[in-house]
Amino acid sequence: MQIVHQIDSLRQMIKAKRAADPAVRIGFVPTMGFLHRGHASLLEAARKECDVVILSIFVNPLQFGPNEDLDRYPRDEERDMAVAREAGTDIVFFPQVSEMYPKPTRTIVSVSGVTERLCGASRPGHFDGVATVVTKLLNIVQPDNAYFGMKDAQQVAVIEQMVYDLNIPVTIVPCPIVREEDGLAMSSRNVYLSEEERRQALVLSAALEEAESLLTARKETISPEELRQTVVRRIQSAPLADIDYVELLSYPDLVALENWSSEERVIVAVAVRFGSTRLIDNRILRAP
Ligand code: PAJ
Repeated sequence: MQIVHQIDSLRQMIKAKRAADPAVRIGFVPTMGFLHRGHASLLEAARKECDVVILSIFVNPLQFGPNEDLDRYPRDEERDMAVAREAGTDIVFFPQVSEMYPKPTRTIVSVSGVTERLCGASRPGHFDGVATVVTKLLNIVQPDNAYFGMKDAQQVAVIEQMVYDLNIPVTIVPCPIVREEDGLAMSSRNVYLSEEERRQALVLSAALEEAESLLTARKETISPEELRQTVVRRIQSAPLADIDYVELLSYPDLVALENWSSEERVIVAVAVRFGSTRLIDNRILRAP
């Protein structure tokens, strides 16, 4: 496994691989590090489908709001390298902020529509930061496939829209959410949780699972708003849960649903604070 810090060196490595074998398939997994099994699952998917697997680790300041956790975002370089190696990564791109943003960027990629709700509404500017850095990374790596987790379902919708609108020559591969055995969606931010917060946070996956069962059992009678309310109530049963949003929208368009109509896929998406930690989770359901 090779580790590179400079954009130029990475480009040269990739150029050499493509020169040696023009049919080489390059798979790319962008992350912010503090890798867990969720990240590993993306690397493994890339390993299966591609000849060369490239991982980037970059905590992107542009996607953090002024009062967010940029300064305390967890880092563990040594463990990240072990996880990356174990998952079969060929190249780790690990740039400094000064490499990615030598000067303040004057170009921002801003996707409209799908960014209006959910985390787009509660974290202003967040998806501009994500879309901008992902555009830069895709331009630097120029992979055949790029792998993203459905843990961040809105992020997948934003990136797919951006790649479509800007004709970026890459296939976006969405990958399923990886959970702890007890249901908690894996996240680098889970380390912030106290034992009690961690215990109560299980209400998220439980509430989403319940929503799915309820929709199956009562599909003729339950409205989207009723289903949303049951998720809200279930989450509120955890005393430490402080709801940022609970929404039920079409996916991937992320438009509000009055009734089930012809929507193929709907997303139940939640963002909830436990203490100072904001967790997100979601489930994609088939509309009845
Ligand atoms: P990060 O939060 O590190 O996540 C990197 C990738 O791992 C994302 O595609 C995310 O959806 C995926 N991931 C995280 N937890 C997961 C889980 N439990 N199951 C499956 N996949 C999971 O998302 C970002 O970084 C950044 O916004 C980034 C795209 C790198 C741009 O800076």
